[in-house]
Amino acid sequence: MEKQPDNISLKAHKIHKYFGGVKALEGSSVVVTKNKLISLIGPNGSGKTTLFNVISCWLSKSHPDDFIEEPEDEPKLQTRILKTLKKKFGGNEETDERTEVGYVDFEDLRLDGLDAHEAALTGMMRTFQTTRNWPKLTVLENLLVAPQNQTGESFTNIFFKRKQINEEERKNTLKALEILEFLEITHIRDQIGEELSGGQLKLLALGRLLMTAPRLILLDEPMAGVNPTLGNKIMDKILELKVDSTIFLIEHNMDVVFNYSDEIFVMASGKIIAQGTPNEIETNKDVIKAYLGVDY
Ligand SMILES: Nc1ncnc2c1ncn2[C@@H]1O[C@H](COP(=O)(O)OP(=O)(O)OP(=O)(O)O)[C@@H](O)[C@H]1O
Ligand SMILES: [Mg+2]
Repeated sequence: MEKQPDNISLKAHKIHKYFGGVKALEGSSVVVTKNKLISLIGPNGSGKTTLFNVISCWLSKSHPDDFIEEPEDEPKLQTRILKTLKKKFGGNEETDERTEVGYVDFEDLRLDGLDAHEAALTGMMRTFQTTRNWPKLTVLENLLVAPQNQTGESFTNIFFKRKQINEEERKNTLKALEILEFLEITHIRDQIGEELSGGQLKLLALGRLLMTAPRLILLDEPMAGVNPTLGNKIMDKILELKVDSTIFLIEHNMDVVFNYSDEIFVMASGKIIAQGTPNEIETNKDVIKAYLGVDY
């Protein structure tokens, strides 16, 4: 694999994703620079979450030739067979093939083709638009199951490294308590996951992420359902994370996007239609058209 420039965290190149007859992504490409906050915006249904799903390996990408409009008539089927044969027997050059079918690189790792749990071990983490957690565990316990590579996870370690495990548990608990305090949810630390409100679940998801200190963080609408004061505080904390991490953010709150982003990608109907600084995007006519559906 071609080595990525050192300042690039993530490169998703020409990603396609089809759901039956729906083209959710049509050759979308993004390049995310390290230690920046990059936003992905676009109207509802434009493909933002699908792109995150492909990047984090929750969904596999489609082959660009796989989309066939219904009904499958004879000539199209032949074209498809020919293309499949070409794919199989033509162009062995690794870089050509890779460019043709699209790819996702995170630093020097190729992500597409991995399982979601494998991708999660690379230092890239995401939150979900619909928040997931352990419904029967308390808020504090939910934070404590987040850190990876804990010494206690290996059976032998449980016997031989008891002291080290205690020390790690103590450190993790202190860290979790600090995070609860920062997110202003200390008062619900003993409540179980399934009892939480939508806003509280968003905060818990962010807390779980803060426990693991990933190098790349994908956030899918972290502000939805959170009150504006706390929302701004969360954004300030996310900005602090830029020292060690790169943030890729999907957000509908345009105040947040334009105030906090270093760069913005705009998506419409599965394609990236614009990319630039907040100032550049604010005045981009294609962007205004995509949102308002009118020519300017
Ligand atoms: N699992 C799925 N099965 C079928 N269609 C899907 C699936 N996931 C997404 N889609 C479709 O793909 C398109 C893009 O959806 P996606 O959720 O990525 O949009 P989005 O930009 O995140 O929208 P929103 O801002 O509302 O969250 C939509 O037409 C959606 O209906
Ligand atoms: Mg979405």
